[in-house]
Amino acid sequence: GNIHYYEFVLKESNFTRLCSTKSILTVNGSFPGPVIRVHKGDTVFVNVHNHGYYGATIHWHGVKQPRNPWSDGPEFITQCPIEPGTNFTYEVTFTTEEGTLWWHAHSEWTRATVHGAIVVLPAAGTVYPFPKPDEEEVIVLACWYKRDLRQMVEQAIATGDDTPRSDAYTFNGQPGDLCPCSNETSYRMLVDYGKAYLLRIVNAGMNAPFFFSIANHTITLVGLDAAYVKPVTSTYLVISPGQTMDVLVTANQTPSHYYMAARQYSSTEPDILFFDHVNATAILQYRGNYTPPSSPFFPSSTLPSYKDFIAAANFTTRFRSLASLEHPTNVPQNATTRMFIVVSMGLVSNSSWNGINGDGSKLASSMNNISWVNPPIDVLMAYYRNISGIYEADFPNDPPSSYNYTGQDLSIDTLLPMKGTKVKVLEYNETVEIVFQGTNVLAEVHPMHLHGHSFYVIGTGIGNFDEETDPKGYNLVDPPLVNTLAVPQEGWATVRFMANNPGVWFMHCHYDRHLTWGMDFAFIVKNGDTSSRSMRHPPAYMPPCTASAADHSL
Ligand code: C2O
Ligand code: CU
Repeated sequence: GNIHYYEFVLKESNFTRLCSTKSILTVNGSFPGPVIRVHKGDTVFVNVHNHGYYGATIHWHGVKQPRNPWSDGPEFITQCPIEPGTNFTYEVTFTTEEGTLWWHAHSEWTRATVHGAIVVLPAAGTVYPFPKPDEEEVIVLACWYKRDLRQMVEQAIATGDDTPRSDAYTFNGQPGDLCPCSNETSYRMLVDYGKAYLLRIVNAGMNAPFFFSIANHTITLVGLDAAYVKPVTSTYLVISPGQTMDVLVTANQTPSHYYMAARQYSSTEPDILFFDHVNATAILQYRGNYTPPSSPFFPSSTLPSYKDFIAAANFTTRFRSLASLEHPTNVPQNATTRMFIVVSMGLVSNSSWNGINGDGSKLASSMNNISWVNPPIDVLMAYYRNISGIYEADFPNDPPSSYNYTGQDLSIDTLLPMKGTKVKVLEYNETVEIVFQGTNVLAEVHPMHLHGHSFYVIGTGIGNFDEETDPKGYNLVDPPLVNTLAVPQEGWATVRFMANNPGVWFMHCHYDRHLTWGMDFAFIVKNGDTSSRSMRHPPAYMPPCTASAADHSL
């Protein structure tokens, strides 16, 4: 593979959206940030210079970083923040991924504005497993907040209130012409009649999945989280925060202007009431001589309504990996470690700490009733240097036995998780099965994301997981291989993966409000028996852990 070098300068820049101007943290002054373009097998060195006002880190979402957790990025998990005035160089190696991924800040809510796409092209001498498109386009879906996000989040954490909601969704940085003061700047993708396009779609949004549809055009999903899938043809898609999708579309309609629209999918919660503008739009615009319509066609019949969870399930249950000779699957046929993880919302109090239940005055999220607390120095360094007192290695394989996780009459204990920094330790090459079970407490979809590995999604369903009947329906032949999995609302999902990447790897919900409230934990994957099966030693320079950087947790 080739080696590429990027310079990322974190700096404040002024942007005008929705009729007002504000300063946001950016990489190299752009929103969304620069695209990293590589071929499979390449290595990228990204030197991140922090010219901003606060510490930050960058994560390479979906890049497995074999044996190199030091460059993974989540703050207080694998490194401490890069403080203002300092820099840190990440080494990012693309070994098995092919398709679209993304990078983003992994420090509190900084990723709202600090993110960009990663395009991993096939290795030299290899081709796409689908007809080569004529052109490619990156589409990053994200959020825009009119007020200062960092201030709002810190206030929400201090008071225990719900976190702020965005003022608009964006297509490559633009809310689109249905939003105020956004007409001139609407994102336009120019196409030629008859050509085929590959859209590389990233959901960089903070807290909600999106439905996406293009008026009058069908789309074909061919890739998911930088792994190819059997083609899924549809009039819409649904994409969760953290997910990336490769989609083919042919410009085969009457030359005109067509909306591409993204709409929040917000399950049954009345979140929608808080938003003025639930649709972000861009325009698919044919080149040529014709009279454009007074307003572009809208995908009114194909874009599902914001709480259409049946439409969401109808799309996501169609994912199958290629499982071909060139793109084989390697689904573990059984598991050496099984975990049943209840992912839930709950409440803790401001004063409780270290496992003492509180008075329930602050919103919290938990996994197996434990709400994650960031340690003062990163878990990786504590593990590497054998520093005690930073984390506990007793994250449970199961929820508390009394835990009534889906009934309508949840006991108070269920709603008051313990706080803790608990990790799950795995032997090298263990095969791990996790059943994620959602609950009915402020029920929502939870996009669970694992660092350092991809997992096979072998089953999903609505309601309580039934250990007698549900495993009979598992797909062990061609399940999709992903880094982020949307656990259905009040439902369950089962994944399997091989723990073949030694290091410390974060696992969390990719909604930032749930991440902030503690729906997180980490795996430690131990070294194997040889140095090539062991994690690398840290680079000569890692950002130091300063006391001021430490107190950012709940
Ligand atoms: Cu995309 Cu831990 O994150
Ligand atoms: Cu969640």
